Amino acid sequence: MAEKKIIAVVGATGAQGGGLVRAILGDPSGGFAARAITRNANSDKAKALAAAGAEVVEANLDDAESLKRAFRGAHGAYCVTNFWEHSSPEKELAQAKNMAEAAKAAGVKHVVWSTLEDTRKQVPLSDPRMPTIKEKYKVPHFDGKGEADRFFRELGVPTTFLLTSFYWDNLIYFGMQPKKGEDGKIYLHLPMGEKRLPGIAAEDIGRSAYGLFRKGDAVIGKTVGIAGDHPTGGEMAAALGKALGREVIYNAVPFDVYRSLGFPGADDLGNMFQFKHDFQELFCGARSVEKTRELNPSLLSFSAWAVKNKDRIPIG
Ligand SMILES: NC(=O)c1ccc[n+]([C@@H]2O[C@H](COP(=O)([O-])OP(=O)(O)OC[C@H]3O[C@@H](n4cnc5c(N)ncnc54)[C@H](OP(=O)(O)O)[C@@H]3O)[C@@H](O)[C@H]2O)c1
Repeated sequence: MAEKKIIAVVGATGAQGGGLVRAILGDPSGGFAARAITRNANSDKAKALAAAGAEVVEANLDDAESLKRAFRGAHGAYCVTNFWEHSSPEKELAQAKNMAEAAKAAGVKHVVWSTLEDTRKQVPLSDPRMPTIKEKYKVPHFDGKGEADRFFRELGVPTTFLLTSFYWDNLIYFGMQPKKGEDGKIYLHLPMGEKRLPGIAAEDIGRSAYGLFRKGDAVIGKTVGIAGDHPTGGEMAAALGKALGREVIYNAVPFDVYRSLGFPGADDLGNMFQFKHDFQELFCGARSVEKTRELNPSLLSFSAWAVKNKDRIPIG
């Protein structure tokens, strides 16, 4: 039997990389093996991946040499950064550069780089519609990723640029759950006006990335956007209401109100939602649900995700 092609997965203990490791392990005859990269092979999550059949290798995105070792002998690499751990676009850029250089040095044949749009191409810093953040960014957690695309391009690393989407799981883990109002009613507060919010179950990102590795050469050099659905806020509230068995009312929060909510990253997220709102055609157009389903046939729509996760969505 031919030897399996190793996919080195950064973020393997997290949402995106974890989904990819599970997709690889769930298809034992698919021809791929999972190498889970983590800073700590002794964490419970890393041990669980090893027990499930992944090779676990330690590396740190801040340490280029450790990445080179971790990518050695791999056919593919899934490259992702975790902006929210440090909230620094400069650090995110440096980590992406380390991954691109390590992939080049190790001769990796296919990188899938988890990126997002550099919003400054549409909204230059001089555009007053949204505040500039940290002097150089409009949506810091997008702009650094988009800017970092060039490291993979300039080094000639064979890369697929994966434009991810809003995780539906933010309604469980990221404080975006429906909340009870003073009137006792349940509200979904989102600054999306009447526009559509492309989103995806976090687990489906890894499954879609697996589809990209399976496609191989056909998607190298391409930018591929993924989404499970493009619902409006009203449609999301209706689907949640149906899944939870109680009315959920959509509240279209004004962008400025959202930006001033005061939690860490509120300005970044407020600008992000405004970007998705103001450039809906471009943003949705880059994330075809049909093409995502070709990569990942078990892709969940928002309503299917809500039904599946109804007992995990907190209220309030
Ligand atoms: N939430 C959303 O709606 C959304 C949508 C699109 C994109 N994103 C982006 O998704 C990214 C986060 O991905 P995720 O949700 O999969 O992350 P996550 O579930 O929070 O997990 C973070 C992962 O990154 C790894 N990691 C962090 N720093 C590392 C370092 N210095 N060296 C090696 N590994 C490191 C962690 O590994 P160990 O701890 O095991 O070392 C862990 O596996 C963010 O950049 C965010 O902007 C989020």
